[in-house]
Amino acid sequence: MARPTDDSARPERRRSTKRHLPAYERGDDYDRRWEALAETGTDVHGEANLVDALLQQRGGRRVLDAGCGTGRVAIELAQRGYEVVGVDIDPTMLDTARRKASDLRWVLGDLSRLALDEQFDLVMLAGNVVVFVGPGNEREVLRRMAAHLVRGGVLVAGFQLGVSQYLLADYDADAATAGLRLTDRYATWGRAPYDGGDYAVSVHEKTRY
Ligand SMILES: C[S@@+](CC[C@H](N)C(=O)[O-])C[C@H]1O[C@@H](n2cnc3c(N)ncnc32)[C@H](O)[C@@H]1O
Repeated sequence: MARPTDDSARPERRRSTKRHLPAYERGDDYDRRWEALAETGTDVHGEANLVDALLQQRGGRRVLDAGCGTGRVAIELAQRGYEVVGVDIDPTMLDTARRKASDLRWVLGDLSRLALDEQFDLVMLAGNVVVFVGPGNEREVLRRMAAHLVRGGVLVAGFQLGVSQYLLADYDADAATAGLRLTDRYATWGRAPYDGGDYAVSVHEKTRY
């Protein structure tokens, strides 16, 4: 599972460095790590803050939290008044999400095949989901994410670089194929400028139906 450090400063690393993300954990274990981080005083709502700011700027209330895990971000957004749907392939993560927020909509599904027959103002891929979907699946995931966006809606994704062969240039190319245009790129969810480092938060806008 991804390290809960999305907003921390990151040292430069060579992109060829291969590091292995730990295997999936149960939802409660995942949450405990975030809780421990929050107890140190770290702001653990960087993702929700950026999504909130983007939707306030651009308008819209509907959010798809794609690869929502335990609902960490989705629940925070719902508490801020957004209409959120969470999708994840791991039923143990969704079990935790349902237990924490049974009133929200949680969907068990594979992002590379997702077909909810509805569209959102913003789709988010937070917590290294792009890495977790696995090599070769990224393009199809981006196509499915684009299909779930209204025209003018945005896809926001933050993920670690250098843990697979998939580069930021590949992500942008796959996004373009899916009808998504890069509008902003940051080094953190707190909008630090992107400087070519090993973590990127990308905002792409859907330009066509
Ligand atoms: C590190 S967790 C991030 C969870 C949440 N977004 C967060 O930031 O706390 C990555 C999540 O991606 C999910 N995932 C990986 N591949 C997926 C796929 N093909 N379809 C749906 N979810 C997937 C995993 O089950 C896991 O819950």
